[in-house]
This record gives sequence, structure tokens and C-alpha cells, in this order.
Amino acid sequence: MTTNRQAHLTALASAALACAALAAGPARAGEVEVLHWWTSGGEAKAAAELKGTMQKMGHTWKDFAVAGGGGDSAMTVLKSRVVSGNAPAAAQIKGPSIQEWAREGVLANMDATAKTEKWDELLPKAIADGLKYKGHYVAAPVNVHRVNWLWANPEAFKKAGAKVPTTWDEFFTAAEALKKAGVIPVAHGGQNWQDFTTFESVALGVGGTDFYRKALVQLDTGELKGATMQKVLETFRKVKSYTDKNSPGRDWNLATAMVIKGEAGMQLMGDWAKGEFVAAGKVPGKDFVCVAAPGTAKAFTYNIDSFALFQLKDAAKQKAQQDLAATLMSPSFQEVFNLNKGSIPVRLGMKLDKFDDCAKTSAADFVATAKGNGLVPSIAHGMAVPSSVEGAIKDVVSQYWNDDKVTVAQAMDRLVGAAKGK
Ligand code: BGC
Repeated sequence: MTTNRQAHLTALASAALACAALAAGPARAGEVEVLHWWTSGGEAKAAAELKGTMQKMGHTWKDFAVAGGGGDSAMTVLKSRVVSGNAPAAAQIKGPSIQEWAREGVLANMDATAKTEKWDELLPKAIADGLKYKGHYVAAPVNVHRVNWLWANPEAFKKAGAKVPTTWDEFFTAAEALKKAGVIPVAHGGQNWQDFTTFESVALGVGGTDFYRKALVQLDTGELKGATMQKVLETFRKVKSYTDKNSPGRDWNLATAMVIKGEAGMQLMGDWAKGEFVAAGKVPGKDFVCVAAPGTAKAFTYNIDSFALFQLKDAAKQKAQQDLAATLMSPSFQEVFNLNKGSIPVRLGMKLDKFDDCAKTSAADFVATAKGNGLVPSIAHGMAVPSSVEGAIKDVVSQYWNDDKVTVAQAMDRLVGAAKGK
């Protein structure tokens, strides 16, 4: 009898515990606050996939979106939140900044998730190394964006009787024809990071990958003020003469919208621009065309989005964080996210059947350039140099772009100064 009663009480107790757990939601559910700057049409669709996946796992998504292409504003806001001891669970942090944040001792260790999910086997080694600090994973990647693209509106080109360019000479011939046809040749948004996105494609196309690396990654003084840089700066200024007077301050996605509508003929921008075309229902090869930026077909400027996790005390929040990290690298998420984002999966061995030709070209070129000499990091998108140097050289380039009185010689001297931290 006693035994029966005890058994009954035990059963009751476990039923009560189970009810309590149900009322509180799945045992592992936690809140995950994620800082990102994906607010344009295509970006928001991609971010919504992440939110939906986390919610399906029972977690609560707390959106911490800070508008501003390229993420400069997001990084400023992140710094103040972390300094005030109120870090989000995860933040879009990439390139050398991952190491900068890790050195501060605020990032969480992701080794356990990375081991269970086999990241070392699923990521190219060079990429995995950039996500580790002292041998431990502190960031999880989502994609590979290619920066050196040119987007064109075929209708506008038809109207102008122009050919989509593959060299800088062809670019200026096409720009002239578009102008004569009453189309704005180059859609541009005047913000530092957009100026530099164009600048690095000009540098790569005019100078080639060795020059690009020496001048802009290794910050070699001789290259920063040599004859090739002079040609790059002259070409860059010529590109500006084909932009419209309303470009200062314009957001990148509004510049893309000008190409979508045919108000402008082309835009030099990374493939997050494709996310805008796709979100607007446009079809690659028909409504828009993607080609490598002039002179850069054999090169690939990479920009890898990744998330770092911040150290948190709450166990449920920690669990949600680790689930987020595992989700980012999962095959189904890599597919649906990148279809919306315009990028390609960073996870090796993914099938690309659902991806369009721009993505397939990107994937093939990524592999080919990685085998050769053509794979280079984007400076404009935080992949190459410490953030302080990046900010300084971006300022120099934008001052030169915005003020025709700044001479090529002055710009080169300032670049050398910025590279040295002066
Ligand atoms: C990010 C992209 C983003 C773009 C425009 C880049 O730096 O890597 O994910 O779409 O900025 O905001």
C-alpha cells in the first residue's frame, strides 16, 4: 500500500513538474537578441529567415537592427552597448574586427557547437582561421558575398545601343552612350563605404590582384603613391563624372532601385544588390545582368558575413545563442538565407540547383580564384585591415571623390598617412 501510495505521489509530482515545464515553454527556450544591419528589401527577407528558424525552435527573437549599409552605424551602437555592460546575444561582426572584439575578452567560445556541427570539415581552412581567436571559434559564418560586381539594366543598355562592359575602356564608352540616351550612367550612393566599394573595384580592375594586395591590404607606401595608384585614382574620378548630382547621402539600395527601374544603367556593388533585384521580382539574365566589375573577371573580392556571440550569464539565453550558431551553418538555412541575400553558401559541398547563374558564377569563381592568385579580401567591407586603418583610408578616398580640388598627388600622400595611422 505504502509503496503504491509513494508511486502515486511520485507520478503526481512528475506530472506537476511536466505541466510547469510546458507552461514555461520548451525547457531550452531562451531569448536571442541579434544585432545586424539588414534592413533593405532583400536583406530584411534574409534576416526574417533567421528569425523564423529561431522561433520555430521555440526561442524568442529580439531584433536589434541598426539601419545603415556597410554596418558603420551598427558597429558604433554595438560598442556603446557592450561598454555599458549590456551586450546583445549575437552581433554581425566580421573580418579583423572579430579578433579586435575577442581581444577585449567579451566573446563566447563556440568550440562545442563547432565540434558537434563539424565546422572544421565544412569550412575552407582560411575562412575557419579568421573565425577563431587563439585557436577557438568565436564567430559563425553565414555566407560569401562577392564585392567586385557590376549590375546592369539590359533595357537601358538597349536604348543606348551600348554593350555591357568588361574593361574600363568599354565602361566609359557605355557610360557615354547611356548619358546620350538620357539614362544616368552610374547609380551611386554617396557614403564612405559605397565610395570605397567602387574604389576597390577600380583598383582591382586597373591594377590587378598583386597591386591590390600590396597597396590596399599590405599598405605598401611605394604602391600607395606609385604610378598604378595614380591611374586608379584618375579612373575613379572619371567614374564619378557619370554619377548624378543627387548621389551624396543616398542609400545603396536606392541606387540599386534606380537600375531596377532603368533610371540608371549600372551600379558597382556587391551581390547583396542581387537581393534587391530578386526581392523586386526581377530575373537575372532577363531583367538585370551581373558581370564582374571591369577588368576583374579573374579575381574575387570576398566579404564574409559572420556573427560573434557575446558572453551571457543566463543559461537559457546561452542555449539559444548556441542554437543560433548551429542554425547559421545548417544546410537548410545556408540555402534559404543565401537565396534571399544574394550571396553563396559558405558551407562546403552544398548543392546549388536552386541558385541562379550569378550565384553559380560566383561559386565557380570563388573556387577558381582560391586555387590561383585571384582571391582578395574586401577593404570596404571589413575583411582586410584593422578597423581604425579602414576608417582612415575610407575617409581619404571619400574626400577625394567628393572634392575635385583634392589632387591625385594629395590623395596619395593622405593614403600613405592614413595607412600609417597619421
Ligand atoms: C554586408 C552585407 C550587407 C551590405 C549592405 C556589407 O558590409 O556584408 O551583408 O548587405 O554591407 O548593407
